[in-house]
Amino acid sequence: MTRQLHLNAIYTAAGGTLGGWRDADAPSRAGVDFPFLAAQVRKLEAAAFDAIFIADLLAVPDSHPDVLEKVATVNDSLEPITVLAALSTLTERIGLIGTASTTYNQPYTLARAFASLDHLSRGRAGWNVVTSLIDAEARNYGADSHLAHDDRYRRADEFLEVVYGLWDSFDEDAFEWDAESGRAFREDGIHRLDHRGEFFRVAGPLNIARPPQGRPVIAQAGASPAGRDVAGRHGELIFSGAARLEDAVEYADDLRRRAEAAGRRRSDILLFPGLSPVVAATRGEAEDRFARIAGLLHPRVALGDLEYWLGGVDLTAYDYDGPLPQFPQSNQSHSAQQQIYETARRENLTIRGFVERRLKADQLVVGTPTEVADHIQEWFEAGAADGFNVSFPALPGTLDAFVELVVPELRRRGLFRERYTGTTLREHLGLDRPLPRSSGDALRL
Ligand SMILES: Cc1cc2nc3c(=O)[nH]c(=O)nc-3n(C[C@H](O)[C@H](O)[C@H](O)COP(=O)(O)O)c2cc1C
Repeated sequence: MTRQLHLNAIYTAAGGTLGGWRDADAPSRAGVDFPFLAAQVRKLEAAAFDAIFIADLLAVPDSHPDVLEKVATVNDSLEPITVLAALSTLTERIGLIGTASTTYNQPYTLARAFASLDHLSRGRAGWNVVTSLIDAEARNYGADSHLAHDDRYRRADEFLEVVYGLWDSFDEDAFEWDAESGRAFREDGIHRLDHRGEFFRVAGPLNIARPPQGRPVIAQAGASPAGRDVAGRHGELIFSGAARLEDAVEYADDLRRRAEAAGRRRSDILLFPGLSPVVAATRGEAEDRFARIAGLLHPRVALGDLEYWLGGVDLTAYDYDGPLPQFPQSNQSHSAQQQIYETARRENLTIRGFVERRLKADQLVVGTPTEVADHIQEWFEAGAADGFNVSFPALPGTLDAFVELVVPELRRRGLFRERYTGTTLREHLGLDRPLPRSSGDALRL
């Protein structure tokens, strides 16, 4: 069968752009409007999307009040695993990927939560493994500042090894449910972990049977050298922030190399660059729609977004028509900061130029169904993408247009499935179900 692409939707309450909540069609308080959210997810499931993905931040950022008061998502974000658990009861097939931090959690907590979600959804859970981003998150979890960048990836690596061990606590054939003898499972079918490492001490076992998928699917978006290493070792669905085709190809090749170096197959990882589509029947109509959406983003918010990704700096004191000042490397996202400086150099941008560029958003494609499908096909065939992480700039309009206009065009080209053929997220993605690792000592009851 010809290779087909995958579609994952980034679900952001009020649309993928920071001004999306101002759209006349968006419900007010979209962030906590679960019926609205569920209705959008059902449309994506009817279109046979592989999964939806919910991002997360564990704090209200330290941005200037002028910026914060204009941004809906930071004030109105439901906790992802809770939302996905609710969605698991209202959907049948679509994958449910939630973000959770390895810096501000314990492995036992997340092993339980994602094993539970995988059981609730009968094999549709995925975990976007993040190391968190900002000091404001640290301050909500007993620290003054965020753990140093590379230390948090070392912690993530150990965290994941512990979680895999916990998911393998019970052998899959351990359960007997023998009512007559009164034995629920074989005593030698449950294993303690007794992990003692640099960051964690976890005895185990986990008090839940092995998840239906063996392991929920691991999503990752590391982009710095330390982040790419963790993504290459553990990631299966890899989010790429690359905005240009050549960067996305470089990233995909590098990640596949790192996966191989870690003893995995190149096919064990799937690359998902982002895509923000604004589509309409004609180019003129699509451009009008985009102009309306771009007009919703307040320039102060666009500037605030730039300040945020540069590591929480203040740009208001600098000349708006002068060059972007060079700040020291932040402890936030190294790669995001670096990408901003590279773009500023390449395009010779002033602060104003950057803000105007921000209004257009990276990874944006505005056009007819044919033009958007051409973009998708080009990236797919160039080896930059196995699938796309689709972010809908304003809801529900841009989602409806994508599902009604682009998905059928992708199907006409044989690039996207007509319907689901499997039931688990691993089956949708064509990923193997991992075997249990060789187990530790049996638990003596
Ligand atoms: C599509 C996408 C979604 C992301 N979602 C989150 C998120 O929800 N929470 C978070 O803390 N970081 C998130 N990140 C940031 C990544 O975890 C990572 O920090 C970033 O890609 C930079 O990599 P680096 O940490 O190696 O510099 C996301 C990144 C991408 C590309």
